[in-house]
Amino acid sequence: MESVAGGVASKLSPLKGNNFLSSSDLTQDQINALFDLATQLKNGDRRIDLGNRVLGLIFSKASTRTRVSFQVAMARLGGQTIDLNPQISQVGRGEPLEDTARVLSRYCDVLAIRTFAQQEINNYAFWSSVPVINALTDSEHPCQALADYLTIKEEFGELKGQTIAYVGDGNNVANSLMICGSLLGVNVRIATPVGFEPKDSFLAKARSLALPGSTIEITNDPRDAVKGVNAIYTDVWASMGQEKEQIQRRKLFADFCLNEELLCKANKNAIVLHCLPAHRGEEITNGVIESNQSRIFSQAENRLHIQQALLAALLGGL
Ligand code: CP
Ligand code: NVA
Repeated sequence: MESVAGGVASKLSPLKGNNFLSSSDLTQDQINALFDLATQLKNGDRRIDLGNRVLGLIFSKASTRTRVSFQVAMARLGGQTIDLNPQISQVGRGEPLEDTARVLSRYCDVLAIRTFAQQEINNYAFWSSVPVINALTDSEHPCQALADYLTIKEEFGELKGQTIAYVGDGNNVANSLMICGSLLGVNVRIATPVGFEPKDSFLAKARSLALPGSTIEITNDPRDAVKGVNAIYTDVWASMGQEKEQIQRRKLFADFCLNEELLCKANKNAIVLHCLPAHRGEEITNGVIESNQSRIFSQAENRLHIQQALLAALLGGL
């Protein structure tokens, strides 16, 4: 019989050398194998030494969790990270992306990029000869979604057939949550104010990937969305790059705050998730963040474990 480690390795071996640009770049089997590997790494049942490989981080937006969890993940894999802040590299002075990507591919073994347009990260992937990871764009946050579903799986054991609600802006986090949830057989309900629904292209992608029986629903009624769910998720109302809209959005989203009253409408054992950073008193109350239903800090921790598994898979270290 195949060992557990052998099973994980054979499922993840096709990922060696691949990019991870969208949640749709993985199959259900591969995501589940990454969850198994992340759990082994988290519990100390597995150690992987990649032998001094180097991760380059190119972040055009602020980050605490993504930056630090990638750095620590790489250190635990026996590798190193180089932080290529665009402000202090030639990237910020306009060096063409196609030159930067090819040069960095000669120094680094993998790149994680946080930027605005998805097309920019797709272009990096085109010109780079090493794997490129999406560390957040305006369109998606696929590493976050992996950590989110690992956290839900830890709580409930099984993901297929779970129903979760995301309340707030139909943004990058919502898009990846829908797409990844579809692949895993999770029913995902997204509740946004009118005009802030996820774009049709992401919804269509999620629906096209949905396992039989799993549904992706969009509504403008947060109370309706959370009825009977096992997890409620929210994120900031104005994402990075939308700071100018913050005041206006506060008014438009006022009815979408994840507060104690909304939480009461979910299942009794429902958990609360937020990718962080949070604006307490806006999209979520302090009380809900600090409640015993909150798994927000475990969710943040899981970024480390799942990204360690992902790096090991993309770098072929299994
Ligand atoms: N959740 C998340 O990506 O956090 P950072 O912006 O701090 O990386
Ligand atoms: N939607 C947020 C997520 C931050 C992790 C943003 O893009 O700013």
